[in-house]
Amino acid sequence: MARLIRTWLAGIMSEHPILVTGATGKSGRRVVGRLRAKGLPVRAAARTGEVVFDWTDQSTWDAALEGVRSVYIVQLDGTNLVRPFVERAVRHGVRRIVLASGRGIDLPGYAKDSGGILEDILDSEAAVRESGVEWTISRPGWFAQNFSEGFFADAIRAGELRLPAGDGAAAFVDAEDIAAVVVAALTEDRHAGQVYELSGPRAVTLTEAVATISEATGREIRYVPLSVEDYVAELVQQGLPPADAESFADVIEPLREGKDEYVSDGVGRALGRPPRTFAEFATSTAAAGGWPT
Ligand SMILES: NC(=O)c1ccc[n+]([C@@H]2O[C@H](COP(=O)([O-])OP(=O)(O)OC[C@H]3O[C@@H](n4cnc5c(N)ncnc54)[C@H](OP(=O)(O)O)[C@@H]3O)[C@@H](O)[C@H]2O)c1
Repeated sequence: MARLIRTWLAGIMSEHPILVTGATGKSGRRVVGRLRAKGLPVRAAARTGEVVFDWTDQSTWDAALEGVRSVYIVQLDGTNLVRPFVERAVRHGVRRIVLASGRGIDLPGYAKDSGGILEDILDSEAAVRESGVEWTISRPGWFAQNFSEGFFADAIRAGELRLPAGDGAAAFVDAEDIAAVVVAALTEDRHAGQVYELSGPRAVTLTEAVATISEATGREIRYVPLSVEDYVAELVQQGLPPADAESFADVIEPLREGKDEYVSDGVGRALGRPPRTFAEFATSTAAAGGWPT
């Protein structure tokens, strides 16, 4: 009987579109690509692109959720909209939710959280766990793609990364691995109720990360460690309001303190293989033209 229900559920899941929020972002874009490569129907949702979905405009939520049975949620940091969204999703008949969260959010003192962002994400996790439907939580640490598509990308392209990160290291995780785990959780039964903490195979210092990208691109790139005060002053000089500059410095603090050095086993548990190395990330990104000058 249980097998029959599983087969019936699998049939339903593959007929209905899978909603991917944050579909133009670092993880969502890759999740969309991988689901489509499997021939599965996908609703790629963001403020721009295929399906217009705006976290801050709840009138866009129903059209995104209509007929959907599985959802990947990439929340909007600084808001607490996941709980009402999950309630709405369940009303629409969603049966499986994969939530993008982050490593360290449940570790006391992991990061300064004056804006209450970590509290919001913890509440998002609680909302998903309490939803009554199958759920999986993806908790990645620092993305390797911060160097190619995110926070550090412009500096890397310009040849100099200036950060108040000292000799700090992190076990950077490749967004390709994050997407592979999310796709497994969206499409396979055995991930229900799992929290996957995701990291790369070992900690990499910023000096090593930048040297690895230098080698992969054949360009000279430097990492220049700054004091927090100098970093904030530089950002303010570039036109950032002081409060925003302080917030950026706060984001770097766990990196400086080595709080993301530890290695997690989520990629191995979910996929049965080791995570990609930082060198693999750098080589494949360079080969794909990821650091145009
Ligand atoms: N970067 C890291 O190292 C790291 C580490 C751990 C956890 N995280 C967490 O991962 C999440 C970010 O994931 P990501 O890096 O894959 O995304 P991302 O690259 O930052 O992209 C964000 C996505 O959200 C969409 N978006 C932005 N504002 C929106 C709005 N108002 N309504 C609907 N969609 C909106 C963007 O598309 P449009 O702009 O086109 O709407 C884009 O698709 C965050 O919650 C972050 O805290 C990040």
